[in-house]
Amino acid sequence: MTDTLVTPLSLRDTEVRNRIMVSPMCQYSSTDGFAEDWHLVHLGSRAVGGAGIVMSEATAVSPEGRISPNDLGIWSDDHVEKLQQITSFVSSMGSVPAIQLAHAGRKASKSRPWEGSEPVAPEDGGWTTVAPSDVPWPYEGEAPPLRKLSTDGIEGVVDDFRAAAERALDAGFEIAEVHAAHGYLLHEFLSPITNHRDDEYGGSFENRTRLLREVTQAVREVWPDDKPVFVRISATDWLDDRESWDIEQSVRLAADLDDLGVDLVDVSAGGIHPDQRIPNTGPGYQVPFAEVIREETDMMVGAVGGIRTARHADEVVSNGRADLAIVGREHLRDPYFALHAAEELDADAEWPPQYQRAVPRR
Ligand code: FNR
Repeated sequence: MTDTLVTPLSLRDTEVRNRIMVSPMCQYSSTDGFAEDWHLVHLGSRAVGGAGIVMSEATAVSPEGRISPNDLGIWSDDHVEKLQQITSFVSSMGSVPAIQLAHAGRKASKSRPWEGSEPVAPEDGGWTTVAPSDVPWPYEGEAPPLRKLSTDGIEGVVDDFRAAAERALDAGFEIAEVHAAHGYLLHEFLSPITNHRDDEYGGSFENRTRLLREVTQAVREVWPDDKPVFVRISATDWLDDRESWDIEQSVRLAADLDDLGVDLVDVSAGGIHPDQRIPNTGPGYQVPFAEVIREETDMMVGAVGGIRTARHADEVVSNGRADLAIVGREHLRDPYFALHAAEELDADAEWPPQYQRAVPRR
């Protein structure tokens, strides 16, 4: 039987009630990395709203791995308690709580989007960023200071991801996602645009993918065998006019990640350089990349980007383009996207009993 948007998904021992995941979306609402009531209400509402998986925003594995001083973090044991409250509520609403573990690399130390996403200097509360090579993001103004990672520094990054995953497990998350997309640290190692190293972490495909493979292995080692691990990648740099990361390398990487015990690749794109040229950003503009990876490997994939309607999300899953429809901005507009989708697709929509008097009778 064909899977549809409302077909449950089994990932190891984790049962997901449908094929809808809330895409990770930074809220820039933390101080010193701590989750707040905002995160409880924001993520909790999407669980009430029926999403199968509720993915946290990019959660920094180290203080310098934050995009902004207001990012969520998980570099300290003290971060765990509030996150536990969130995962407990999300789970009680029937959603699977997931966390995106992240390091922003050279795109760190910026102000929040609503403050202009401007580089923040160390004397103003920012910090020295780290990257594979000594090449800052081409800001119009001055970039925050940047340090090329030494081999020891790289080992430190792997240790930070491992320790963050251990804390995430303590906090009650069921799925760990490694963020290797959007021009942040792990993507910066993958792409020849940002990785100019001549050691074992730069040059060949094997070398550029080494850090992601090491991070994935470290996370997989501490993440229990019965729980899933995802990796989010940018399938292309959208820079076809120069040597860059592309879909062919992404297919090869997905096969390697499969061997490392990754359960699903979350297929996004772009973010490595402001020169990127995206041919269109219409509905489902990145879905073809997910489809290629699904066709050419044994890996499950999630598709993201411009999926806004129940019919479209259902089409992506029903036609075998992806195993999971990942919905970002539409979930900001409508926390009840998944329940509304079920209604539209004439499936059972399990509104919480507290809200049932408002639900139209079918
Ligand atoms: C994002 N996106 C994003 N991606 C990611 O991997 N980690 C993150 O923390 C964030 N943060 C974030 C914040 C906000 C406010 C937006 C709108 C987006 C990208 C997001 O997950 C998604 O990939 C894109 O928004 C495209 O999907 P939609 O929105 O078209 O469904």
